[in-house]
Parts: sequence; C-alpha cells; structure tokens
Amino acid sequence: MAYRTHHCGELTGKNTDEIIQLSGWVSRRRDHGELIFIDLRDRYGITQIVFEPENAELMKTAKKLGAEFVIQVDGIVRLRPDGMVNSEMKTGEIEIQAQSLSILNEAKTPPFEITDRTSAKEDLRLEYRYLDIRTDALKSQLLLRSKMYKIIRNSLYNLDFAEVETPILMKSTPEGARDFLVPSRLHRGKFYALPQSPQTYKQLLMIGGLDKYFQIVKCFRDEDFRADRQPEFTQIDIEMSFVTAEDVFSVAEEMMANAFKEIKGIELTRPFRKMNYQEAMENYGSDKPDLRYDLKIQEFAEFVKKSEFNAFKSVADSGGRVKGLVVPSGAKYSRKVIDGLTDYLKKYYRAKGLAWMKCENDALVGGISKFFADDLQKEIIAEWGISDGDIAFFIGDDESVTLPALGALRCKIAEMENLADSEKYEFLWVVDFPLMEYDSDAERWFSMHHPFTRPILKDLPKFDENPGAVRSDAYDLVLNGNEIAGGSIRIHENELQQKVFDLLKISKEEAEEKFGFLLKALQYGAPPHGGIAFGFDRLVAILAGVEQIREVIAFPKTTSGISLMDDSPSFVDETQLKDLHIKLSDKNG
Ligand code: AMO
Repeated sequence: MAYRTHHCGELTGKNTDEIIQLSGWVSRRRDHGELIFIDLRDRYGITQIVFEPENAELMKTAKKLGAEFVIQVDGIVRLRPDGMVNSEMKTGEIEIQAQSLSILNEAKTPPFEITDRTSAKEDLRLEYRYLDIRTDALKSQLLLRSKMYKIIRNSLYNLDFAEVETPILMKSTPEGARDFLVPSRLHRGKFYALPQSPQTYKQLLMIGGLDKYFQIVKCFRDEDFRADRQPEFTQIDIEMSFVTAEDVFSVAEEMMANAFKEIKGIELTRPFRKMNYQEAMENYGSDKPDLRYDLKIQEFAEFVKKSEFNAFKSVADSGGRVKGLVVPSGAKYSRKVIDGLTDYLKKYYRAKGLAWMKCENDALVGGISKFFADDLQKEIIAEWGISDGDIAFFIGDDESVTLPALGALRCKIAEMENLADSEKYEFLWVVDFPLMEYDSDAERWFSMHHPFTRPILKDLPKFDENPGAVRSDAYDLVLNGNEIAGGSIRIHENELQQKVFDLLKISKEEAEEKFGFLLKALQYGAPPHGGIAFGFDRLVAILAGVEQIREVIAFPKTTSGISLMDDSPSFVDETQLKDLHIKLSDKNG
C-alpha cells in the first residue's frame, strides 16, 4: 500500500483540484458543528484537512481522531474560502477535502502539549524525548545539526580530507577526564576504555601517511557535569601532516565560513582575530573571552601602592595581583546587587571579597574610596576612563584567583546589562598556551592540553628552571565566549616526547605501559603534524541560538548523567557480571 503522494508541507494553490494522499499525525482537531478540521503534521509541515457531513461514515471515523493519532487521508486539494487563508504557512492557501480516512495507529493522550514547548518541565520531555522531537523547535534543531554534518563533510572533502573511523574500544588516552571503562569478558581483569578523543589514533594515521584525516566522532568523558558538557559528545576531529598552526587555522576557518554562510547567511571576516593566552587572561580573566563587548580588566596595583588600603597593599607586596574593571552606568547597583555579586565570586571563584567605588561629581565615593586621597582618585578616574555614574570593582588575591574571578564578574555583568548582541559572532584564536600547569595538591605539573602537544622550541631552555613559562604550540578557537575547538601541533620526535613525559613525571615504565605504541611509532618516520577538534554539539547549539547542548542532541543525558527515557545507567543481571568477572562490593555504596 502506498502511504502518500505528497508530504504535509508542500501543497499550494498550484495543486488545486488534484487528488492526493497524505499521511501524518493529528496535530489538532477542531469540530465546527457540521465540519471537522484536522491539522495534519509530518516532518515537513502542516496541511489542513476538512471532513464534511455528506459522507456520514467518514465523519464518524473523523470524530474518533485524537491528538497524535497516525492517519492516512485521501482527498482533493481546494483553495480555502476567502478570509480563511493563512499567509504564514506554505500550505495556508489550500485545504484537503477528505474523501477517505484510515487510522494507521491510535495514540494515548501525550503527557504534554506537542505544540507548546513550555507546557512541561524538561525532565518529562526527556522521558518522552520522541514526542519532544515532534515539536517544531527540537525538530528544526536536529535538522540544523544534520545540515551541519553535510556542510562540514563537504568542506573537508573539498579540501581533500579522508574520513577514517577509529576504534571505540581502545586503550585509554589521557585528555584530563576519567575514562569510561568496558570490562573484557575474554580477558579476565582487563578493560577497554571508551575514547576521550581519538587523539593517539589520528596521530598514528599521520604516521601511516594519510596526510589529511577527519572524523565526526563520539567521545566519552566521565567528568563532573556542567551545562555545556555531556558524558558522550561529538567532535569534528581533524589531523594534518606537514603543517604549521596557520595551516590548521585556515582549514578550521574555511569550515566555519561555509557553515555561517549557509546557515546564517553571514560572510565571516577572515583570518580570525588572534590573542595570546597571557593577554586573554590579563584583559578578560578567561582563556575564552567573549569579545562581543568590551569591559576590559585593568591593572590597579600601581594605585594601590599609593593608597592607604592595606589589604590590597599586602596582596600587591606579596606577589599577588590587584585588578578591576569599570561598569559604565553601574553606580545604580544597590548594596544588595553588590552583595549578590560578591557571594557569587566567593562561592564559585574562591574570591575573598569584591571591593568597589562609585563615581559621582568627578570623585570616587563609597566602598573603599576613603583609602584613596583626592589626587589619587583623580589619577584613577583619568587613567581608567571612569565617568560619573560608573562603578569600579576590584579584587586583590593570588593571580589564580584575581584573574578568573574578574573574568567571571565580567561575564555576569554582561549578562545583567545585556551587553552581548545575540546576532554577533566574534571568533578568536587563543594561542601560546602554557605547556603545563602546576597542580599544588598533586605537587606536579600537568599538561594543559595533552602530553602530545608540542612545546614552542625557543622556550625549551626554560624547561628545567621554569617549566610554567614554557609555551606550547596549542590553540583554542573561541566563539562568543565558548571554547568551540582546541588543538595543537604535536611532538613528532620520540626524544622530545620522552622529555615531556619526564617533566610531567610520567615514568619510563608508565609511559611505556600507557603510550608505548605511540612512542614506538614515533621511531618509524613520524611526519611533523598537528590538528584540532571541534565540539560539534556546542557549535550547533550556537548556530541554533540555544543555551544547552542537550537541545541539539537527539537523546541526551541529564546533568547528572542519566538518560530519563531508557533509564540508564541501570543495574545488570548477576550472570552478566559473572561473565565479566565482576563482583560488586556494595550495590548501594
Ligand atoms: P579538547 O579536549 O579541547 O581537545 O576537546 C575539543 C572540543 O570538544 C568540546 N568538548 C565537549 N563538548 C561537550 N561535552 C564535553 N564533555 C566536552 N569536552 C570537550 C569542546 C572542546 O573545545 N584531542 C584533542 C583535540 C586535538 O588536540 O586535536 C581534544 O579532544 O568544544
């Protein structure tokens, strides 16, 4: 049996008098006395069907139709009567005069209104995700994602990239998160890891001579959840041989230019702006600054030295940092608002407090202003560009607190003041990241990116006396304050890789055990290579104009890592565990 001659989004006045057949879901039923109207919906749109009293049998069936019933209708296309035309809809000019109706499947009353996405909480929508996918919003977000796969694939194929799949069951690769492990039934006590990314494989493909690789690939990270993270997410993973960072940028920019042109109709300005990590941290308190608005962080230490404010003086004297920012027209902030900001920075950013001064009649007032003499105030006002009606905020602490806390304040204020234009797209390459950062709890250095990242060679002499000053050839692509991609030029020489492992206090044995295969491969003619990976979900979310990456993933997990629809993770049979040689110590523990 054929189900349809057309879909629900295509018939117009041009089809008048045609005999057609449609199949879809009952989106709405309206009984108008003698007439019954059905809005029939499928992926492509909605078409109005009319049942008329002439055919009593047909009316009887039509009266049984409930929301979300799946039906098939045969009928004739006719123009709607005057005054009934809906010019907002492609099919708004016509309706179908029904001649026969089959109910293909009945439906229980849906737990929420399909047409109104605000009618139920997200948890209920996640439980019935297949119904949520019927909504215009979620459907169009998933279709946008589909369009993006195509644009990305086309862009990369045009540049001669080869698509290669890499294993999902693999040996663990460190990317900074915990691994999801898969126990082996055949090899008692051994585990596969799900890839945090295909990092080592793509490097091995370069050693294999594939030259330009890409993959749109699932990655798995067992990390603490945040709004913009999922335990499984998708990367556009890219690796190239005989390249510098600039070559990688150019491929990434080409992809972005194609995507923004096709999806948003925007011509991006290329090359994208670049900023080094140090500058980003000093001026924006973040390695992913949102450049849609200004609100730059400024140096305050020099003024502090000339002031009476001892709390900040001792911070500056003991190697800490005192910086701040000016909020234009911020003098309106009440005590309550300032306290709210202070609590936020204390709670999430380890700040000890948030100092402030307001500007009135060319003088600084309130907050810590009394510690700054009149002349000094004048200097501050001039130097920082403060105007009447502004407020300035200050933090004095260790650099590791001052900069991120002010960065967070900057974002919070932009949110409060609505400073970020949602129609603007500010791309930024952040470059020259430190190779390593020190973890004072673990008392050792960790790779900021991953241990295969290439150090900037002229920094190599600093390796021993000042490892923190060694920069890497790593880069992130930032869009409107989101890190949408990260990558680096890699180490292709075995000795240099060994040296980096040494610095990271990864012993020879550990390196051998964890990455022996890569170290071995590096000895067989590894070409210079580098690459990048985009967070595909984030990118699509930005293009779709939604906040949560869940909104562009068909079947996402909640922030606590649960799939509410199929209720995973779940307990498994004892026999399954036995097969895997696993014994649980305490089911509830
Ligand atoms: P990185 O770890 O920076 O690099 O990841 C690349 C990009 O993936 C996105 N991302 C995530 N998106 C959703 N949920 C998550 N849990 C999550 N974690 C990361 C981010 C990030 O920029 N192998 C390297 C790439 C390389 O060096 O080529 C890597 O995975 O947008």
